[in-house]
Amino acid sequence: MAERPYIVGNWKMNGTRAMLAQARAIDRAAQNLMKVEVALAPPFTLIHATHREVEQIGVGAQDCHCSSDGAHTGDISATMAADAGAKFVILGHSERRQNHAEDDALVRAKAEAALAASLRVIMCCGETEDVRDAGEAVRFVTDQLRASLPESLERAGEMLTVAYEPVWAIGSGRTPTVEEIGAMHRAIRALLLELYGEADGAAVRILYGGSVKADNARELLAADEVGGALVGGASLTAESFMGIVIAA
Ligand code: G3P
Repeated sequence: MAERPYIVGNWKMNGTRAMLAQARAIDRAAQNLMKVEVALAPPFTLIHATHREVEQIGVGAQDCHCSSDGAHTGDISATMAADAGAKFVILGHSERRQNHAEDDALVRAKAEAALAASLRVIMCCGETEDVRDAGEAVRFVTDQLRASLPESLERAGEMLTVAYEPVWAIGSGRTPTVEEIGAMHRAIRALLLELYGEADGAAVRILYGGSVKADNARELLAADEVGGALVGGASLTAESFMGIVIAA
Protein backbone atom coordinates (compact mmCIF):
# COMPACT_ATOMS: atom_id res chain seq x y z
CA MET A 1 0.00 0.00 0.00
CA ALA A 2 1.18 3.52 -0.81
CA GLU A 3 2.81 5.65 1.88
CA ARG A 4 -0.05 8.17 1.92
CA PRO A 5 -2.92 6.70 -0.06
CA TYR A 6 -5.00 9.13 -2.12
CA ILE A 7 -8.73 8.40 -2.02
CA VAL A 8 -10.90 10.47 -4.34
CA GLY A 9 -14.69 10.43 -4.49
CA ASN A 10 -16.28 11.12 -7.88
CA TRP A 11 -19.88 12.08 -7.26
CA LYS A 12 -20.68 12.05 -11.01
CA MET A 13 -24.16 13.56 -11.72
CA ASN A 14 -25.30 13.16 -8.13
CA GLY A 15 -25.88 15.74 -5.48
CA THR A 16 -27.89 18.84 -4.70
CA ARG A 17 -27.10 21.19 -1.84
CA ALA A 18 -28.55 18.62 0.55
CA MET A 19 -25.42 16.52 -0.13
CA LEU A 20 -23.19 19.16 1.42
CA ALA A 21 -23.89 17.51 4.77
CA GLN A 22 -22.08 14.42 3.46
CA ALA A 23 -19.12 16.53 2.32
CA ARG A 24 -18.93 18.12 5.77
CA ALA A 25 -19.07 14.73 7.47
CA ILE A 26 -16.34 13.36 5.17
CA ASP A 27 -14.21 16.40 5.91
CA ARG A 28 -14.63 16.07 9.67
CA ALA A 29 -13.78 12.37 9.60
CA ALA A 30 -10.76 12.98 7.33
CA GLN A 31 -9.32 15.37 9.92
CA ASN A 32 -8.74 12.33 12.15
CA LEU A 33 -7.23 10.25 9.37
CA MET A 34 -4.37 12.41 8.21
CA LYS A 35 -2.41 9.41 6.92
CA VAL A 36 -4.78 9.33 3.96
CA GLU A 37 -5.25 12.15 1.45
CA VAL A 38 -8.97 12.52 0.78
CA ALA A 39 -10.66 14.48 -1.99
CA LEU A 40 -14.09 14.89 -3.56
CA ALA A 41 -15.16 15.82 -7.07
CA PRO A 42 -18.76 17.01 -6.76
CA PRO A 43 -20.75 18.24 -9.78
CA PHE A 44 -19.88 21.76 -10.98
CA THR A 45 -22.92 23.19 -9.19
CA LEU A 46 -21.53 22.16 -5.80
CA ILE A 47 -17.82 22.93 -6.22
CA HIS A 48 -17.93 26.40 -4.71
CA ALA A 49 -20.18 25.44 -1.81
CA THR A 50 -18.14 22.31 -1.07
CA HIS A 51 -14.91 24.30 -1.20
CA ARG A 52 -16.36 26.74 1.35
CA GLU A 53 -17.70 24.02 3.65
CA VAL A 54 -14.58 21.85 3.98
CA GLU A 55 -11.22 22.46 5.61
CA GLN A 56 -9.17 19.34 5.16
CA ILE A 57 -10.17 17.50 2.01
CA GLY A 58 -9.36 18.46 -1.58
CA VAL A 59 -12.12 19.60 -3.93
CA GLY A 60 -12.02 19.09 -7.68
CA ALA A 61 -14.06 19.08 -10.88
CA GLN A 62 -15.17 16.17 -13.04
CA ASP A 63 -14.40 17.74 -16.41
CA CYS A 64 -13.42 21.00 -18.08
CA HIS A 65 -13.44 22.49 -21.56
CA CYS A 66 -10.27 22.54 -23.65
CA SER A 67 -10.54 26.32 -24.25
CA SER A 68 -10.02 28.97 -21.62
CA ASP A 69 -13.13 30.96 -22.60
CA GLY A 70 -15.39 31.75 -25.53
CA ALA A 71 -18.66 30.85 -27.23
CA HIS A 72 -19.23 27.38 -25.74
CA THR A 73 -22.74 27.39 -24.34
CA GLY A 74 -23.10 25.19 -21.30
CA ASP A 75 -19.39 24.45 -20.92
CA ILE A 76 -17.08 25.20 -18.00
CA SER A 77 -13.42 26.12 -18.45
CA ALA A 78 -10.57 25.01 -16.22
CA THR A 79 -10.14 28.63 -15.11
CA MET A 80 -13.80 28.78 -14.05
CA ALA A 81 -13.53 25.50 -12.15
CA ALA A 82 -10.39 26.76 -10.41
CA ASP A 83 -12.13 30.04 -9.60
CA ALA A 84 -14.97 28.09 -7.97
CA GLY A 85 -12.45 26.36 -5.71
CA ALA A 86 -11.36 23.25 -7.64
CA LYS A 87 -7.76 22.20 -7.18
CA PHE A 88 -7.87 19.28 -9.59
CA VAL A 89 -9.96 17.93 -12.44
CA ILE A 90 -10.83 14.39 -13.48
CA LEU A 91 -10.31 13.98 -17.24
CA GLY A 92 -10.77 11.16 -19.73
CA HIS A 93 -13.32 9.30 -17.62
CA SER A 94 -14.86 6.49 -19.67
CA GLU A 95 -18.32 8.02 -19.17
CA ARG A 96 -17.08 11.22 -20.89
CA ARG A 97 -15.32 9.21 -23.58
CA GLN A 98 -18.48 7.16 -24.25
CA ASN A 99 -21.34 9.61 -23.63
CA HIS A 100 -19.65 12.70 -25.06
CA ALA A 101 -17.49 11.08 -27.73
CA GLU A 102 -14.29 12.43 -26.19
CA ASP A 103 -11.26 11.06 -28.01
CA ASP A 104 -7.66 10.97 -26.81
CA ALA A 105 -6.75 14.19 -28.63
CA LEU A 106 -9.56 16.11 -26.93
CA VAL A 107 -8.69 14.63 -23.54
CA ARG A 108 -5.06 15.73 -24.03
CA ALA A 109 -6.19 19.25 -25.00
CA LYS A 110 -8.31 19.41 -21.85
CA ALA A 111 -5.35 18.26 -19.74
CA GLU A 112 -3.20 21.00 -21.24
CA ALA A 113 -5.93 23.59 -20.53
CA ALA A 114 -6.28 22.34 -16.95
CA LEU A 115 -2.54 22.50 -16.29
CA ALA A 116 -2.40 26.00 -17.79
CA ALA A 117 -5.02 26.99 -15.20
CA SER A 118 -2.88 25.33 -12.45
CA LEU A 119 -5.40 22.53 -11.92
CA ARG A 120 -3.90 19.14 -11.11
CA VAL A 121 -5.12 16.41 -13.44
CA ILE A 122 -6.49 12.97 -12.61
CA MET A 123 -6.23 11.23 -15.97
CA CYS A 124 -8.50 8.20 -16.35
CA CYS A 125 -7.88 5.22 -18.59
CA GLY A 126 -9.37 1.75 -18.91
CA GLU A 127 -10.37 -1.02 -21.26
CA THR A 128 -13.76 -2.47 -22.14
CA GLU A 129 -14.58 -6.07 -21.41
CA ASP A 130 -14.15 -7.05 -25.07
CA VAL A 131 -10.64 -5.65 -25.08
CA ARG A 132 -9.76 -7.52 -21.89
CA ASP A 133 -11.23 -10.77 -23.22
CA ALA A 134 -9.13 -10.35 -26.35
CA GLY A 135 -6.01 -10.18 -24.17
CA GLU A 136 -5.33 -6.63 -25.32
CA ALA A 137 -5.97 -4.72 -22.09
CA VAL A 138 -2.40 -3.60 -21.33
CA ARG A 139 -1.68 -2.56 -24.91
CA PHE A 140 -5.00 -0.70 -25.17
CA VAL A 141 -4.63 1.18 -21.89
CA THR A 142 -1.01 2.20 -22.45
CA ASP A 143 -1.84 3.40 -26.00
CA GLN A 144 -4.85 5.33 -24.66
CA LEU A 145 -2.75 6.95 -21.96
CA ARG A 146 0.16 7.77 -24.24
CA ALA A 147 -2.26 9.61 -26.55
CA SER A 148 -4.20 11.34 -23.75
CA LEU A 149 -1.41 12.57 -21.47
CA PRO A 150 0.37 15.86 -22.12
CA GLU A 151 3.61 15.23 -24.01
CA SER A 152 5.65 17.36 -21.69
CA LEU A 153 4.76 18.11 -18.14
CA GLU A 154 6.66 19.91 -15.43
CA ARG A 155 6.38 18.61 -11.88
CA ALA A 156 4.53 15.52 -13.10
CA GLY A 157 4.52 13.94 -9.65
CA GLU A 158 2.62 16.88 -8.22
CA MET A 159 0.42 17.82 -11.17
CA LEU A 160 -0.63 14.41 -12.48
CA THR A 161 -2.41 11.38 -11.07
CA VAL A 162 -3.46 8.46 -13.27
CA ALA A 163 -6.61 6.47 -12.52
CA TYR A 164 -6.96 3.01 -14.02
CA GLU A 165 -10.67 2.21 -14.26
CA PRO A 166 -11.63 -0.87 -16.28
CA VAL A 167 -14.91 0.13 -17.96
CA TRP A 168 -16.51 -3.20 -17.09
CA ALA A 169 -15.75 -2.76 -13.39
CA ILE A 170 -17.43 0.65 -13.03
CA GLY A 171 -20.65 0.39 -11.05
CA SER A 172 -20.84 -3.35 -11.78
CA GLY A 173 -19.70 -4.86 -8.50
CA ARG A 174 -17.02 -6.73 -10.47
CA THR A 175 -13.31 -6.06 -10.12
CA PRO A 176 -10.13 -7.37 -11.73
CA THR A 177 -7.96 -9.65 -9.63
CA VAL A 178 -5.17 -8.15 -7.57
CA GLU A 179 -2.72 -9.70 -10.06
CA GLU A 180 -4.49 -8.10 -13.02
CA ILE A 181 -4.50 -4.71 -11.32
CA GLY A 182 -0.82 -5.08 -10.41
CA ALA A 183 0.13 -6.02 -13.99
CA MET A 184 -1.75 -3.02 -15.40
CA HIS A 185 -0.34 -0.59 -12.86
CA ARG A 186 3.21 -1.82 -13.52
CA ALA A 187 2.70 -1.23 -17.24
CA ILE A 188 1.34 2.27 -16.52
CA ARG A 189 4.34 2.98 -14.27
CA ALA A 190 6.73 1.92 -17.04
CA LEU A 191 4.99 4.31 -19.44
CA LEU A 192 5.17 7.18 -16.93
CA LEU A 193 8.90 6.59 -16.43
CA GLU A 194 9.39 6.65 -20.19
CA LEU A 195 7.34 9.83 -20.66
CA TYR A 196 8.41 11.91 -17.69
CA GLY A 197 11.76 10.47 -16.58
CA GLU A 198 12.88 8.50 -13.56
CA ALA A 199 12.12 10.92 -10.73
CA ASP A 200 8.87 12.47 -11.98
CA GLY A 201 7.57 9.26 -13.55
CA ALA A 202 8.05 7.43 -10.26
CA ALA A 203 6.27 10.17 -8.30
CA VAL A 204 2.99 10.11 -10.23
CA ARG A 205 0.31 8.32 -8.22
CA ILE A 206 -1.71 5.61 -9.94
CA LEU A 207 -5.20 5.04 -8.53
CA TYR A 208 -7.45 2.06 -9.11
CA GLY A 209 -11.16 2.72 -9.76
CA GLY A 210 -14.16 0.46 -10.36
CA SER A 211 -16.48 -1.00 -7.71
CA VAL A 212 -14.20 -0.09 -4.80
CA LYS A 213 -16.10 -0.59 -1.53
CA ALA A 214 -15.13 -0.68 2.13
CA ASP A 215 -15.02 -4.48 2.08
CA ASN A 216 -12.69 -4.88 -0.91
CA ALA A 217 -10.59 -1.70 -0.54
CA ARG A 218 -7.84 -3.22 1.56
CA GLU A 219 -7.24 -6.04 -0.92
CA LEU A 220 -7.43 -3.85 -4.04
CA LEU A 221 -5.19 -1.17 -2.57
CA ALA A 222 -2.56 -3.77 -1.75
CA ALA A 223 -1.96 -4.49 -5.45
CA ASP A 224 1.39 -3.44 -6.93
CA GLU A 225 1.80 0.27 -7.70
CA VAL A 226 -1.67 1.19 -6.42
CA GLY A 227 -1.48 4.60 -4.76
CA GLY A 228 -5.13 4.97 -3.87
CA ALA A 229 -8.63 4.74 -5.31
CA LEU A 230 -11.09 6.70 -7.42
CA VAL A 231 -14.50 5.89 -6.00
CA GLY A 232 -17.92 6.43 -7.56
CA GLY A 233 -21.04 5.00 -5.91
CA ALA A 234 -19.45 4.35 -2.54
CA SER A 235 -18.37 8.00 -2.22
CA LEU A 236 -21.94 9.29 -2.04
CA THR A 237 -22.33 8.89 1.70
CA ALA A 238 -19.82 9.71 4.38
CA GLU A 239 -20.36 6.30 5.95
CA SER A 240 -19.51 4.22 2.88
CA PHE A 241 -16.73 6.53 1.70
CA MET A 242 -15.01 6.73 5.07
CA GLY A 243 -15.15 2.94 5.27
CA ILE A 244 -12.81 2.95 2.27
CA VAL A 245 -10.61 5.68 3.73
CA ILE A 246 -10.28 3.73 6.97
CA ALA A 247 -9.43 0.54 5.06
CA ALA A 248 -6.70 2.48 3.23
O1 G3P B 1 -14.69 7.49 -11.24
C1 G3P B 1 -15.10 6.49 -10.36
C2 G3P B 1 -15.82 5.42 -11.01
O2 G3P B 1 -16.01 5.43 -12.35
C3 G3P B 1 -15.99 4.14 -10.32
O3 G3P B 1 -17.34 4.05 -10.05
O4 G3P B 1 -19.31 3.36 -8.81
O5 G3P B 1 -17.70 1.65 -9.68
O6 G3P B 1 -17.03 3.10 -7.78
P1 G3P B 1 -17.88 2.95 -9.01
